[in-house]
Amino acid sequence: MRRNWSPLPDRENSLSDAGVPAWLSNSVGYEVYIRSFGDGNADGIGDMVGLLPHLDHLAWLGVDVVWITPFYPSPMADYGYDVADYEGVAPEFGTLDDFDRVVARAHDLGLRVVVDIVPNHTSDVHAWFEASRSDPEGDHRDYYIWRDPAPGGGPPNNWMSHFGGPAWTLDEASGQYYLHLFLPEQPDLNWRNPAVRSEFEKILRFWLDRGVDGFRIDVAHALIKDEQLRDNPMLMPLDGVTDASYRFICMDHRYDLTQPETLDIYRSWRHIVEQYDAVLIGETYVLDPADLAKMLPGDGLHIGFWFTPMHMEWEAGAIRRTLSAATEAVPAGVGWVQSSHDESRPVARYGGGDLGRRRSLGLSVLMMGLPGVPFIYQGEELGLDDGVVPADQLTDPLAVRNEDSVGRDACRTPMPWGPGPNLGFSTAARTWLPIGHGVEWSVASEMADPRSHLNRVRELLRVRCAITDLATMPTRWHDCPGDLVGFSRGDHIFVLNVGDTVASWQPGGRWDCVYRSVGFETDSSMSEISLVPAEAVILARSAPGPT
Ligand code: NOJ
Ligand code: CA
Repeated sequence: MRRNWSPLPDRENSLSDAGVPAWLSNSVGYEVYIRSFGDGNADGIGDMVGLLPHLDHLAWLGVDVVWITPFYPSPMADYGYDVADYEGVAPEFGTLDDFDRVVARAHDLGLRVVVDIVPNHTSDVHAWFEASRSDPEGDHRDYYIWRDPAPGGGPPNNWMSHFGGPAWTLDEASGQYYLHLFLPEQPDLNWRNPAVRSEFEKILRFWLDRGVDGFRIDVAHALIKDEQLRDNPMLMPLDGVTDASYRFICMDHRYDLTQPETLDIYRSWRHIVEQYDAVLIGETYVLDPADLAKMLPGDGLHIGFWFTPMHMEWEAGAIRRTLSAATEAVPAGVGWVQSSHDESRPVARYGGGDLGRRRSLGLSVLMMGLPGVPFIYQGEELGLDDGVVPADQLTDPLAVRNEDSVGRDACRTPMPWGPGPNLGFSTAARTWLPIGHGVEWSVASEMADPRSHLNRVRELLRVRCAITDLATMPTRWHDCPGDLVGFSRGDHIFVLNVGDTVASWQPGGRWDCVYRSVGFETDSSMSEISLVPAEAVILARSAPGPT
C-alpha cells in the first residue's frame, strides 16, 4: 500500500541534539562484506589479512566509518549471520590478532570501526543452543523460545521465516518447537530472559575493550517478541504466492517485530557504549517512517538504517516523499542506504548500465546532503551493476532453499581491485563466488580515469566534507519545476533531475555550482541551472560581489 507523506517543513534540529556523537553525525560510512573484500591467504574467501591493505582505499575515498560484516566463528549457514561464538574470529577470516591489526590500522588512517553484532539469533551449534536443546530442564532452555505444538498439532502460531516456511522447527526429542525468524539453523534468543541480556552486555564490552567504535545491530527491530506469541493477522491471502520474501510481506508483523520492550535493551546498551564514545547503529528494517521513529526515541540506538529508498519508484514525487518522510519523522537518526549485501545493486534496480549508474549517483548526492549518516556498500563507489552468478553457483540459502528466489549472491560477488587473477581479490584457483565484473570496473581502472564513477563519488565526498554544518542545518524542500527534486541546507542546494529530458531551474539569487554528477562544468554566480537526465548538482550561494 502506498502512503502519501507530507513534505518536510523547515525545522531546526541537529544530530547532536539527539546525543549522537559529532564524530558520527559528520560521517560517511562504508560497509565491508568481509567474505568478498580481499583474500589474504589464497583460499578464495575474503578475510582480515586481505582487508588490511585495502583500508587505504577507504581512506583515499574519503569515508569515515567502516562497518565490517560478521566475522565470528560460524558454520556459515547464513554466511556469518549464524554466530557460534561471539568473542572470536572464524578461522577462515583470521585471528583476533588479525582483527586487532585491522582496528589499529583503521584508527591510524582516521577511520572508525563498527562491528556487526547479531543478537536476534545464534547458530544452532552455539553452545547455548546445544545446551538448550539437549536439556529441557537446564538453565539454557530458556535462552531460546520453546513452545508446545498448537492444540491440534503443528507449529505454535502462524509466524513465517524471512527465508521461507514456518518460523518454527520441531525438536523430536522434547516434542517442542523452537522459534527462528530466519533459517532453522538460526534459533531466536529469548530476550525476555535477563541472562541473555547479561551475556550480550559482556559481549559488547569484549569488543569495546578491543577498541571498536560501535555496533551495527542485526535485525534490531525484532529482539523481543509478543509475550503471548499471538498469531499475526494476514494482510493478503497466501494462495498461489510462492516467493518467500513476498509471502513474508503478506502478513502484518504485529506480534513478531517492533515490540516496544525492545527499546529497553538499547537503553541499557547505550549506557555501556557511551562510556567508550561508541555508537549503536540499528538494522531497523521497518518501512513506515512512523515505525522507524519509534525505534529511535533518542536514548537507545543512535541511528537506524532507513531501507524504504531501496524500494521506491524512480519518480520525482516518490523520491521526494520517501526521503522527506524519514527526515521529518526522525530528524536526527537516519542511516541512508541505497545498497547492501542483501539487495540487488541500485545500478541494476535503476535500469542497469550507464542509466542505472547515473541514477544511483544522483540519488547519492541527495542522500549525502540530508541530515543523517549515509553509508556506501562496497562496490557502490565503482558503480557496479549486479555481478553475474550462474545458476549452478548460487550459494545464498535464500536461493538454494527457495526455487523462486535468486537470492543475494549477485550483490556479494568479490570486489574488483585491478588487473590480474580474480581482479586482485584473490590468487586462489576458485573464489567462493565467481568474479562478477570486468576489469574496466575495477578500482585500478577507475582510479586512472578522472571521469570514472569512482572519481565522481570521491569528489562528492570531498565536497560534502567541506560543508561543515551539514549535521545541524535545517532542511528546506523546494517546489522545483517538473522532475527536479531539491532542498536547501543553509547556503547549499542539492537538486536531482529525475526526468529523462534536460531540466532548468532558477532557485532565486546567484549560485556557484560546486558539484555535478554527470557534467564537469562548475560555473560561478549563475542564476539558472540546467541538469541533464539523472544529473544532480550541489550549489553554494555565491559570495556577494564587490560593491
Ligand atoms: C540481516 C542481514 O543483513 C542478513 O544478511 C541476514 O541474513 C539477516 N539479517 C539474518 O541475520
Ligand atoms: Ca582467505
